[in-house]
Amino acid sequence: MIFKPFMREHFIPLPVTFISTISREGIRNIAPYSCIMPVLRPLPFVCFASAHRRDTLKNIRETGEFVVNLVGTDFIDNVIPTARFNPPEVDEFEIAGLEEKPSEIVSAPGIKGAYAWMECTLHKEYAEPAYVLVVGEVKRLEVSDRVLKPDGSLDVGMAYPLMMVGGYKEMNYCTVVEVGKQDPYGAMFPNGKDPLAPHVRKTRNGVNGKEMSLLLMLYLSFSKHPCNHILYWGFFNGQIVNRQIFQYVRSSCRGLGAGNP
Ligand SMILES: Cc1cc2nc3c(=O)[nH]c(=O)nc-3n(C[C@H](O)[C@H](O)[C@H](O)COP(=O)(O)O)c2cc1C
Repeated sequence: MIFKPFMREHFIPLPVTFISTISREGIRNIAPYSCIMPVLRPLPFVCFASAHRRDTLKNIRETGEFVVNLVGTDFIDNVIPTARFNPPEVDEFEIAGLEEKPSEIVSAPGIKGAYAWMECTLHKEYAEPAYVLVVGEVKRLEVSDRVLKPDGSLDVGMAYPLMMVGGYKEMNYCTVVEVGKQDPYGAMFPNGKDPLAPHVRKTRNGVNGKEMSLLLMLYLSFSKHPCNHILYWGFFNGQIVNRQIFQYVRSSCRGLGAGNP
């Protein structure tokens, strides 16, 4: 069968995210957005397509900030109340009966009950007569522990991400399932190595191994911890800590938040 070109989303399952913003006057806003994607690995950008007449867009232009809330299928009943037209002076958290989850970096609040929150600042926008592409920089990404596997990856069976595919007259809600097969990123490259691996190997706290070494060194320098001499040895050898020492220091410093996938 041949379909009309605009019917692409009848065949691309899309995430249903909720973007929360706050206006200059302090009015909180929520809107579902499905035309959204990350911009290449390992860049920290997220891009979404918006119509011009959106309070979401107006608020982002005013404040330069927004939160992308990733939700499970338990948010289905919140889609229409937040998608309906509401005048800008209406608080859409109240309309939808949703509670806010205060953000750490941006003024826009997140939504309580989502499984992940991307606090973003406006990076760039590309305005065309029929649409605007908004590129946000993810400044903070928090994911609820309840949807994480022990290695820090998403347990989709726990998250049950809310998605949809378009139909002629309706949005058909759906979710994703794991099929039990993985490929390493490196498999795409001739030498089997993923060139981006060092950039993406981050801890749950958003700190990589090198940064963690530096933090530990600073902490231990100012404390009377018995590992001080090992760190100084490593430092004076031109290399902050080698892997074994780092692991030893890490295991002796549990409680610093050093455990990571
Ligand atoms: C599932 C779903 C996905 C949507 N995705 C988008 C989108 O990607 N871009 C957009 O401009 N509008 C999208 N909309 C429409 C807006 O959510 C809707 O117009 C909303 O009222 C805008 O609210 P606001 O004016 O408070 O920003 C979507 C609506 C639904 C129900």
